[in-house]
Amino acid sequence: MQIKEITTNKADFMDILLIGDEDEKMINKYIEQSSIFVLYENKVLTSVCAVITKDNETIEIKNLATYPKYQNRGYASALINFVCNKYKINFKYLILGTGENNKTLEFYKKRGFQETHRLKNFFIDNYEYPIFEEGKQLVDMIYLKKIL
Ligand SMILES: CC(C)(COP(=O)(O)OP(=O)(O)OC[C@H]1O[C@@H](n2cnc3c(N)ncnc32)[C@H](O)[C@@H]1OP(=O)(O)O)[C@@H](O)C(=O)NCCC(=O)NCCS
Repeated sequence: MQIKEITTNKADFMDILLIGDEDEKMINKYIEQSSIFVLYENKVLTSVCAVITKDNETIEIKNLATYPKYQNRGYASALINFVCNKYKINFKYLILGTGENNKTLEFYKKRGFQETHRLKNFFIDNYEYPIFEEGKQLVDMIYLKKIL
């Protein structure tokens, strides 16, 4: 597998970014300031990760996604490891916010993240339409943190 950073024409990756965050308007709020990392297997794009700098000691994953047909092959985990290794020299913490979806929360907790706080009604207040995952409407944003 090969991981590359995209520095130009980031919107070319909108298609895969929409798997991690289904509202294009929300993606447009962070895409330009994000470092975008993409993973290719045999030259085929499988996964993406968007990272921003929050403050002197913290980076945040804004988007992490793998195309459905390539899921469960370790690609998102490989991107998280890549990001941790790249940023641990200069930063202390990796944070991210996600919907209250048990599968997603388990995924991150198994990879060393712990819940810190929640933003009440984030998905109601910030998205133009209701977001459903696994048949459940997302309401609060759950924040998780990992020490780099
Ligand atoms: C979550 C996601 C990025 C994982 O990508 P991946 O390349 O399949 O990840 P890996 O192969 O490294 O790991 C697979 C793990 O993801 C879990 N997983 C599978 N589908 C999932 C889903 N829809 N949501 C969350 N986790 C999922 C699997 O249970 C597996 O967990 P385990 O290894 O702890 O048993 C991918 O499922 C995805 O793009 N989901 C939709 C977008 C999303 O929910 N993004 C995360 C919120 S920002």
